[in-house]
Amino acid sequence: MNVDLYERIWMWGAAVIVAVFLVAIGVSTFAYAVRPPSHVETIDPSAVMQDPRFATPGVTTAADGSVHVTMVAMTFAFLPNEVHVPVGKPVTFRITSMDVTHGFEIAGTNANTMVVPGYVSQFTYTFTTPGERLVVCNEYCGTGHHTMQGKVIVDPAPGAAPASAAVPAAAPAEVAR
Ligand code: CUA
Repeated sequence: MNVDLYERIWMWGAAVIVAVFLVAIGVSTFAYAVRPPSHVETIDPSAVMQDPRFATPGVTTAADGSVHVTMVAMTFAFLPNEVHVPVGKPVTFRITSMDVTHGFEIAGTNANTMVVPGYVSQFTYTFTTPGERLVVCNEYCGTGHHTMQGKVIVDPAPGAAPASAAVPAAAPAEVAR
């Protein structure tokens, strides 16, 4: 079969592009743990603070030792805007919005979710190094968007040396699963 040279070039070009796309999807899925949202839980955004799930935002430790961070996003703050979590333990973040769509990103990690009013965003993350992490809103939510930030302070394990200033903001090996 005779295929014209230019046609062959275009066919190979298209095949290479498809291959690159498939590799990109594979790398983002398996190396960076990028996942579509799978936790579907609804909430009335106009009554977030009356809802028992979010009436007392903050950090709780269940009887089985699992750590939960409950947080409310609003223009232009996170409530609470600073939380302490333990190092080396899975921490489940549960976040909702009482007004518009916000983002919740722990800078330097792949702990990152949209916070859509009407829904509860949830993910679990294990911090491998102690230290302070910056939380930013990464969805434009209004005139104060750039001021909307918080802190996650990862406490060292009991008995361990206190976190030194030399600890990097985030270890590259930290990946949410
Ligand atoms: Cu909240 Cu941008």
